[in-house]
Amino acid sequence: MDLNDEICEKIKKVVLESGKIILDANRMDLNVKEKDGNNNIVTKYDVLVQNKLKKELLEIMPEAGFLGEEDFEKDIENEYVFVVDPIDGTTNFARDLKVCAISVALLQNQKPVFGVCYNPYTNELYEAKKGSGAFLNGKEIHVSNRTLQNGIVLSGCSPYYGDLRRKSLELNNKFASIASDYRRFGSAVLEICNIAAGKAELYFELKLMPWDYSASSLILEEAGGVIKTIDGKDIQYFEPTSIFASNGVEDYFKYIK
Ligand code: 2AM
Ligand code: CA
Repeated sequence: MDLNDEICEKIKKVVLESGKIILDANRMDLNVKEKDGNNNIVTKYDVLVQNKLKKELLEIMPEAGFLGEEDFEKDIENEYVFVVDPIDGTTNFARDLKVCAISVALLQNQKPVFGVCYNPYTNELYEAKKGSGAFLNGKEIHVSNRTLQNGIVLSGCSPYYGDLRRKSLELNNKFASIASDYRRFGSAVLEICNIAAGKAELYFELKLMPWDYSASSLILEEAGGVIKTIDGKDIQYFEPTSIFASNGVEDYFKYIK
């Protein structure tokens, strides 16, 4: 099956409908559990959203594989693979901070060809199809042309990995003292989409998982931005990686050296 506009529209519809599960969540019954160590949590709504996405996305493209954050199947051999984060920003969701996103990427031969990131609280839907530009609620978006000095730096601080937390805060100090200001929103997906939409200039995080960046990396590239590892290498889509995402206006790596 080829990726055509009809399939993209169907994928978007499933994502939009899944947003209702987040909006209608019973906040007295989140069933928060810790997983794989420090501060990394999952709620029953992460699982509910993922189950709906898995079922309905595979109905649209039965031949595709599926890799989801809350799923133990790592089904990545197929030509097409959905890479899904049912709730990116689960800590925000659990604390009712209203900054989180559903992220769905469709990869073909290990590279994203379609991506959707949706914040149900603000009703903002970012999307990109390879070679066709990036859009926010149907309007084309572009990265900004600001330099870091006039820009905003965004970062994650890897609270899940002790040594990386310290390193990220040191790097953040460096960038934040050059930039006009800094922010941390707590959703890698939305931080990268913010760069794509020209709302900030640079984002870095020292360790992310494929579902945290697969869809938003395509959105950023289609909006004219650049996404690499912190060492300037190409990112991989089926293993953990650092992320250094920007509007590409300057060689931001010079500030790390
Ligand atoms: P999540 O909410 O889907 O878990 C916040 O710094 C960002 O890091 C969020 O995008 C969050 O995604 C992600 N994150 C959470 N746990 C992580 C882990 N163990 N490794 C890497 N990233 C993680
Ligand atoms: Ca998640």
